[in-house]
Parts: sequence; C-alpha cells; structure tokens
Amino acid sequence: MLNIHDLEVGYGGSTVLRRVGLRVEPGQIVCLMGRNGVGKTTLLKSIMGLLRPGQGKLSFNEWDMTYATPDKRAKAGIGYVPQGREVFPQLSVEENLILGLEACPQRTDKLPDTIFDMFPMLGKMLHRKGGHLSGGQQQQLAIGRALAAQPKLLLLDEPMEGIQPSIVMEIEHAIESIKKKKEIAVLLVEQSLEFATRIADYYYIIDKGSVVAQGSADELSDEIVKKHLTV
Ligand SMILES: Nc1ncnc2c1ncn2[C@@H]1O[C@H](COP(=O)(O)OP(=O)(O)OP(=O)(O)O)[C@@H](O)[C@H]1O
Ligand SMILES: [Mg+2]
Repeated sequence: MLNIHDLEVGYGGSTVLRRVGLRVEPGQIVCLMGRNGVGKTTLLKSIMGLLRPGQGKLSFNEWDMTYATPDKRAKAGIGYVPQGREVFPQLSVEENLILGLEACPQRTDKLPDTIFDMFPMLGKMLHRKGGHLSGGQQQQLAIGRALAAQPKLLLLDEPMEGIQPSIVMEIEHAIESIKKKKEIAVLLVEQSLEFATRIADYYYIIDKGSVVAQGSADELSDEIVKKHLTV
C-alpha cells in the first residue's frame, strides 16, 4: 500500500535521506529502527508530506503522492502521530479528538468507538484539558486523534518514548488490537528489539539516512541490533 522508491530528502543544502526504499503492506506492522539522528523522523515527515523530496517517488495504493500536500495524504488515509505527541493543551480531550475527524474521508461527527475501546481513559476524561493529562495519556490522546480519521496507514514516531511502563503496555495492547483487525497498517519508530520481535511483522534499520538492514521481524537478532543500533 505504501511504496517508497529511491527517496532523497534534506534540509536546505544538506541531504539526510539517501536512496531510501521502503514498503508497507495492508494490515502490516512495520518497525523502523535506527540510532539517534539517522533520519527516522525525517522519513515519517516525508511520508506525511511535510518535507519535499529532492528525488524519488512515494506512492500510496498506486496513487503517486510524491508532491501531494499533507492534507491530501491525510484524506487519502494516512494518519500521523509526531514524536513528542503535540496535543492541543488548551482544548479538551473531546475537542482534540474531534479535530481528528477533519481528516476523515467520510464526513462524520461521530468519534469511532474503537478509540474508547483501546483507551478507556479517554472516555472517562473527555472534558479534561489536553495539557492536564500525563505524558502517557497525551500520547494515547494523540493516537486516538489519529484514529478518529479512520486511517489505513498509521505513522507513529516513538510512541513509547519517555512514558511510564503501565501506559507503554496499554499502547502496546492497542497496537496489538490494530494488528489483529488487519484494517490499519502501522509504520512505527521504536528502538526496542523485544517490542519489534513481539509485535512487528517486518523491520527496517536506517543508518546515516540509508536503509542498512531489513527483514521479517522474527529474524531480527541481537547480532543485527548490536551491529546497527548500539552506540
Ligand atoms: N528542521 C531541520 N533542519 C535541519 N536539519 C534537521 C532538521 N530536522 C532534523 N535535522 C537533521 O536531520 C538529521 C536526521 O534527523 P531526524 O530527526 O530525522 O533523526 P531521528 O532518526 O528521528 O532521530 P531521533 O532518534 O533523535 O528522533 C539529523 O542530523 C538532524 O540534525
Ligand atoms: Mg526522531
């Protein structure tokens, strides 16, 4: 469904991503790994259309979206939860979720029940301000908001980063339930080998802006991780 070919992206004069190729199939959970600063966030931003490629092609369900705006990509079914979440602190949980409906291709004002099944906390705190939630709760809210648009592909940038273990478990269960339903594919940045082997179907490792390893997640070994991920 997502097909990236020969992608080059940079900031100003400096190239960050070089000749990146990556695929995500419908319903697949793909884990994107790599040390700090190698270009993981740059790749997700490029998929969402927040950065323009210097070269290469991105397509989504056969649609060439290489130069499409983020808005068009969202409407086509790509959801994005940025690193560091970014919920609106002054808006309530409910208002934050409703903003997610804007990207929904079917015009609706009803929030999908699946959000509250996955994260019951959100249902209980509908009127609390986003800024008054804990970091982990804000992450759940950010994921819930992306799910409100009923995406076909969800991009998650380090959803477990800096979050207390109990909420890490809840987010992991949410990703597991997404996987079971097979309706949404997930491309997520996550460094943990345990997580990748437990949940992901496929992995990519990036180093210095290029894909240096990829494969089925059950073939991901300590050796590969040591070679490409430890500092
Ligand atoms: N807005 C920007 N302007 C210029 N350079 C940037 C910008 N954002 C990122 N970079 C540079 O691009 C490179 C890749 O950054 P990126 O954020 O994609 O890495 P990352 O793999 O997501 O890192 P982390 O694990 O720390 O989140 C880094 O060298 C970074 O300094
Ligand atoms: Mg990053």
